[in-house]
Amino acid sequence: MKIVVGSDHGGYELKEQLKKRLIEQGHDVLDVGCGGEPVDYPDIAVALSRVVLEGEVSFGILCCGTGIGISMAANKIKGIRAALCADCYSARMAKEHNNANVIAFGGRTVGVEHAWEMVCAYMNAEHLGGIHAARVAMIDAL
Ligand code: RB5
Repeated sequence: MKIVVGSDHGGYELKEQLKKRLIEQGHDVLDVGCGGEPVDYPDIAVALSRVVLEGEVSFGILCCGTGIGISMAANKIKGIRAALCADCYSARMAKEHNNANVIAFGGRTVGVEHAWEMVCAYMNAEHLGGIHAARVAMIDAL
């Protein structure tokens, strides 16, 4: 699978750890930054969203300190459905019900193991379609 990752400085360590695990599992990972230096999370959200909307990747992973600011920024971009995840059930539902094309985490709020389990829960899920697809279409039309 091809996946794009991005973070600000607050999510950098988590982004690096998730990237490492994805690569170890054979995924092709594109990294839009940062490299650990202080950056503004909206810039990273825009860079990653562009890649997702170009259709080059299956989905994107964003990390900032809390995951809040970077997911808020991504969700301003039409076509992006970014889900801030803090538990595995929500990560699975983000795919099954919401067909999220970006998942977001807080590097200062969740541990690497927990974040990785959430990434796996999302990746192992399938969008259920039907009424859920209709609701996602309603979001996209907003
Ligand atoms: C940066 O210090 C911090 O504000 C950012 O990483 C994030 O938590 C914002 O939502």
